[in-house]
Parts: sequence; C-alpha cells; structure tokens
Amino acid sequence: MAHEKTFAMLKPGILQRRVVGEIISRLERKGLRILALKLMNISRELAGQHYAEHQGKPFYDGLVDYMTSGPVVAMVLSGEHATHQLRKVCGPTNPDEATPGTIRGDFSEKTNRNVIHASDSVESAKREIQLFFSPTEIIEYEDEHAKWIY
Ligand code: CMP
Repeated sequence: MAHEKTFAMLKPGILQRRVVGEIISRLERKGLRILALKLMNISRELAGQHYAEHQGKPFYDGLVDYMTSGPVVAMVLSGEHATHQLRKVCGPTNPDEATPGTIRGDFSEKTNRNVIHASDSVESAKREIQLFFSPTEIIEYEDEHAKWIY
C-alpha cells in the first residue's frame, strides 16, 4: 500500500471568505487524514523557498506579494497515494479548467487566486513539509477507521 504524506496550503483570503472548514471537510471526506495543521503568516523568504521553481517567471513577484498578504492554513495530510488524491480533489491549477465539484472549480476564478496549493509530487511534498513543519509538529496516531477507507 503506497501510504504517503503530502502538503496542502489554503491561500490568503480563505479565512476572510470563511470557507476553511468547508474545504478541509472535502479533504477529510475523500479519506485524507490530517497529521498537522496550522494558521500562519508566511515571510517573503519562506514564500520564495516554497515557490523557488517559479523564480524568474512573470507571475513570480505577484505570487509572493499575494502569498504574504494574509494568513494561510498549512497542513500535512496522509493517505494512500495522498499527493495524487489531493490534486484530484483540488482540480487543475487554472480554475478555468477545473470542473465543478473540485475545490478550485467551486471556489476560484483565476490561476493567481486558485485558493489552495497542493504538492505536485511525493518529492515536492517532502520538501514542502520540511519547509513548513518541524518533525514534532507532525502527529502520528492510531486510525481505527482506515479499514473502512482503504
Ligand atoms: P500553486 O499550486 O500554489 O503553485 C504555483 C502557483 O503559481 C499556482 O498555484 C498559482 O497560484 C500561481 N501561478 C501559476 N501559473 C500562473 C500564471 N500563469 N499566472 C499567475 N499565477 C500563476
């Protein structure tokens, strides 16, 4: 069983729109398990590290401005093929291509305000989890319900 950890971040504006609970509920309903969760303001340095692969792109400065403009909700999720499952629940990066029923399809209009970040691979997830969480913040626990999900 390819059980893995992945990383998700609800982006600025999400608290003001009061949809944090609704979005987290969709992740849980899919079977993803929360191992770490925190509300935080991210520095330009952390935003730059997180989005290092986009440095130099035309949207990069706007992306960092936006991601540091208000609190985000960062989380570590786990599950079977969690990275792939999370990305399916989110829908494509461009909300124009995201079908209704996906998080981006239901809550966003534009790529630069696409509501949620989801790691694009298991390797990225490992890197991003380490950027946002210390090992002691990631809580492993018994999950008696797993047999009903997997
Ligand atoms: P995310 O999944 O957080 O990963 C990189 C982010 O860069 C992406 O979501 C968008 O918010 C943003 N992004 C990617 N492409 C563009 C683009 N063409 N224009 C504006 N923002 C973009």
